[in-house]
Amino acid sequence: MPPALIDRYRDQLPVGPETPVVSLGEGSTPLLPAPRLSERVGAEVWLKWEGANPTGSFKDRGMTIAVSKAVEDGATAVVCASTGNTAASAAAYAARAGLRALIVHSTGAVALGKLAQARAVGAELVEVDGGFGEALDRAQELAAQPGHILVNSLNPHRLEGQKTAAFEIVEELGRPPDVLALPYGGGGNTCAYARGFVELGALPRLLACEAADRPVTAASAIRIAEPVHRAEAEEYVRRSGGSVVDLSDAEILAARREVGELEGVYCEAASAAGIAGVGRERPGGTVVCVLTGHGLKEAGG
Ligand code: F0G
Repeated sequence: MPPALIDRYRDQLPVGPETPVVSLGEGSTPLLPAPRLSERVGAEVWLKWEGANPTGSFKDRGMTIAVSKAVEDGATAVVCASTGNTAASAAAYAARAGLRALIVHSTGAVALGKLAQARAVGAELVEVDGGFGEALDRAQELAAQPGHILVNSLNPHRLEGQKTAAFEIVEELGRPPDVLALPYGGGGNTCAYARGFVELGALPRLLACEAADRPVTAASAIRIAEPVHRAEAEEYVRRSGGSVVDLSDAEILAARREVGELEGVYCEAASAAGIAGVGRERPGGTVVCVLTGHGLKEAGG
């Protein structure tokens, strides 16, 4: 079994010898060559397959740190707002640590598989009217109670954990890629990758790929009207010489089909935004597309 992410990157993470390691075997995900997709877009494309994490998304990289630190700090409960993947991840790591998990989500906005994941490991779900922004406001209120810790990406430990994906990519390729393309929802993951690459001294050109119609996109994981990390994420994009790519739902859904049919990888819709962005921008060179979550989470609803 690969080491827990905290043990693999202990020296680069905000953990000490006293920090308990709450792990489900996250990280160390495949970096898959994508020969047919490469031919189609005229670049050497690799897929960072984050759906292979324990709860099926990249959130587990951050959650192992956030929940381990919550335990170290004596918390009794973790709280998050979520479009679904943070919920499933927070719920699982909280259960593993023996903490309560309070999950706030907007009514009818979350794929059923993700709610099922959270319920199956004992999370308590709170519904709110409105979008992700309203859910985050409510989560922040709940997290103000004693012993409660917010585990959204506003929790700095989350992004520290997520930056390790950049380390893995550079270790496997033997160098940074020319381009990193990924979905852009709240922007936390864009910041996390950028920080990871900057720590290694080489920031690739970032393609932060968002749904043009943010508040109503079919890609429910990135249905976020206002990205909480916009300023930092877009500053990294600018510094890297990259761009924010606005995509229609048709482009995102076509990209999901494409990566499935050409490469045999079933990712969720939001995850395919990076592929769609590369299809649009045709950047050439070595390109890593981050596939953030597993398609089974959305199957049938
Ligand atoms: N891809 C997937 C599958 C996601 O679930 C998310 C975010 C993103 C991409 C965007 O990442 O917000 O760091 O830019 N999901 C959050 C959630 C909002 O609640 O699960 P970001």
